[in-house]
Amino acid sequence: MDRIVVTGNGPLSGQIPIAGAKNACLTLMPATLLSDEPLTLTNAPRLSDIRTMSTLLQSLGAEVSALNDGKVLALSSHGLSNHTADYDIVRKMRASILVLGPMLARDGHAVVSLPGGCAIGARPVDLHLRALEAMGATLDLRDGYVHAEARGGLKGAVVDFPLVSVGATENALMAATLAKGMTVLNNAAREPEIVDLARCLRKMGAQIEGEGTSEITIQGVDRLHGATHPVVTDRIELGTYMLAPAIAGGEVELLGGTLSLVAAFAEKLEAAGVSVTETPTGLTVTRRGDRVRAVDVVTEPFPGFPTDLQAQMMALLCTAEGTSVLEETIFENRFMHAPELMRMGARIDVHGGHATVTGVDRLRGAPVMATDLRASVSLILAGLAAEGETIVSRVYHLDRGYERVEEKLGNVGALIRREREDG
Ligand code: UD1
Repeated sequence: MDRIVVTGNGPLSGQIPIAGAKNACLTLMPATLLSDEPLTLTNAPRLSDIRTMSTLLQSLGAEVSALNDGKVLALSSHGLSNHTADYDIVRKMRASILVLGPMLARDGHAVVSLPGGCAIGARPVDLHLRALEAMGATLDLRDGYVHAEARGGLKGAVVDFPLVSVGATENALMAATLAKGMTVLNNAAREPEIVDLARCLRKMGAQIEGEGTSEITIQGVDRLHGATHPVVTDRIELGTYMLAPAIAGGEVELLGGTLSLVAAFAEKLEAAGVSVTETPTGLTVTRRGDRVRAVDVVTEPFPGFPTDLQAQMMALLCTAEGTSVLEETIFENRFMHAPELMRMGARIDVHGGHATVTGVDRLRGAPVMATDLRASVSLILAGLAAEGETIVSRVYHLDRGYERVEEKLGNVGALIRREREDG
């Protein structure tokens, strides 16, 4: 197992290229199951979660080839040999549930393991299932698996989501493209990854309107065809690296970034004393003073402040002047990075869905443990501004969602290296 060692090394400067979005790619890949013609995704990120989705699709009989050093994924599902998504793969990654809607819509049946709990909360899939049921699917939960059938095909329906779910919107959107008649998704998620999925599906021949708003309308078609689609920029990787100069000082340009992807987050950075400027090639981020100021943050569905940047933002606020309150409204139990940051000298009080962070002058390097994907990168960010060495273990979490962190941060002046846990 690997660990990452970071040593505080002063201000950063240079450019960091931002990859295609993991979360967009994880929903674009299962879209291949909707058609028997090839789907090519460009600008794909090179991450272990993407390899897990490839393995899952291959286990169903789809062909997946990674070309151009993994940046291009060539997918084809011209005949599925298996309609069961096995627990052994699904348990590794919740996004596996996204094969359910497409498989059911195209072939009228699918069996998918329930993903089970995960470190950041219960994360059920009831909304995915209810949406498919509304479209006429019969569902049976047996032995930890969802057995879904719609032998005569899915039917268009009005789906009212009681709460905003990214994954349930994606599953329902994909399924509705091949349903008979019109589907309306009310209270749909508005994330850029949903917009990207809708654009790709439209290239495949789907009839969709309203993506990016809370009401998406889909007119079902008989079949979808092949397409080539570039994966949208990863707004979470973008936001994460925007925090690097905010924490360590200096000025860094994030190549490929746009303000529209991270507007609510950039507003908070500005309020904390960090300048964010759009350039022709990306976003430039500069810390204005020696220390940032405290700001309060509430996580919300897009276009609000993303829960996937909450841990990283907390790392910044640990050394802010004043006291900040972070409120997590999307996932319970998503403050597991707090005790680790406290090992580095941070002053954090977690109470229910709130964390109160009182800024300290300086953090101190310490051995810390990554508990989930975003938590692990928050510890690396904190290490950029800490005195001495921060050693982050269990970085397999990190490799699920960040490609070449050492290289990207090292190129802008950070002292960071990866080593074997026993080395
Ligand atoms: C996606 C992202 C994840 C991000 C999250 C919220 C991917 C692969 N993952 O996850 O990185 O943190 O959006 O922005 O895109 N819920 C239910 N029932 C359901 C589904 C969800 O109660 O059937 C609840 C969840 O427990 C959570 C909330 O709804 O409290 C939002 O979850 P959701 O938007 O579905 O997250 P994911 O799609 O799993």
